[in-house]
Amino acid sequence: MTIAIRPAAPADAADIDAVLTGCFPRPDEAMLVKQLAIDGELVLVLVAHDEERREVAGLVALSRMQAEIGGDAVPAVAMAPVAVLPEFRRAGVAEALIAGAIEQMRKAGALLLFVLGEPGFYERFGFSAETAQGFDSPYAGPFFMALELQGGLPCGPKGAARHADAFAALAGDA
Ligand SMILES: CC(C)(COP(=O)(O)OP(=O)(O)OC[C@H]1O[C@@H](n2cnc3c(N)ncnc32)[C@H](O)[C@@H]1OP(=O)(O)O)[C@@H](O)C(=O)NCCC(=O)NCCS
Repeated sequence: MTIAIRPAAPADAADIDAVLTGCFPRPDEAMLVKQLAIDGELVLVLVAHDEERREVAGLVALSRMQAEIGGDAVPAVAMAPVAVLPEFRRAGVAEALIAGAIEQMRKAGALLLFVLGEPGFYERFGFSAETAQGFDSPYAGPFFMALELQGGLPCGPKGAARHADAFAALAGDA
C-alpha cells in the first residue's frame, strides 16, 4: 500500500466521517470533528490517503487550545482524534500521521501539543504526562500528555489548558 499524508481537502469530508464512525464505537468523535469545523476551531486535519485504493485510511485532527503559563497565553494545540481504519492498522499509518502533525505544528510555531491517550503509544513521539502536569484541565491525569514543540517553555506557574468547547460534548476520552 502507498500512503500519502496530506492536509484534508473539502472533498474529504464524507471519507473523514466514514473513518471516524468506523473507528469509534460511538458517533461522538465524528460529531466532535464536525463541531470543531463549524466553530472554526480546527487548526489542521491531516489525512492518510491510500493512493492505490483512492480512499482515506486515517486522519488526525488538530484544534486550538487556550493554555496559560505565568498568566500569559501560550500557543497550544490539541491532537484528537487520531483514527486509522481497521484494515490499514499496524502498518505505521498512525505514526506517520502523528509525525506529520508534530512537524506541521512545530513549523506553525505552536509551543505545546496536547494529547489524551495511551502513554505507551504516545511516549515514542516525546509526549509525556510530566509536561502536561500542572495544567488545569478536566482531562488531567496519567493519560493527559503534552509535547514541547519549540524546545522550552516560558517560566511561571502553569494555568488552564482549555480544549475547544466542542470537547465538552464527548462522553469519554478525547
Ligand atoms: C490507535 C490507532 C490510531 C493506531 O493506528 P495504526 O495505524 O495501527 O498505528 P501504527 O501502525 O502507527 O502503530 C500501532 C502499533 O503498530 C505497530 N506497528 C507499526 N508498524 C508495524 C508493522 N509494519 N508491523 C507490525 N506492527 C507495526 C506499532 O509499533 C504500534 O505498536 P504498539 O502500539 O502495539 O506498541 C488505531 O488503532 C485506531 O484508529 N484505533 C481506534 C481509534 C482510537 O482509539 N484512537 C486513539 C484515540 S483518539
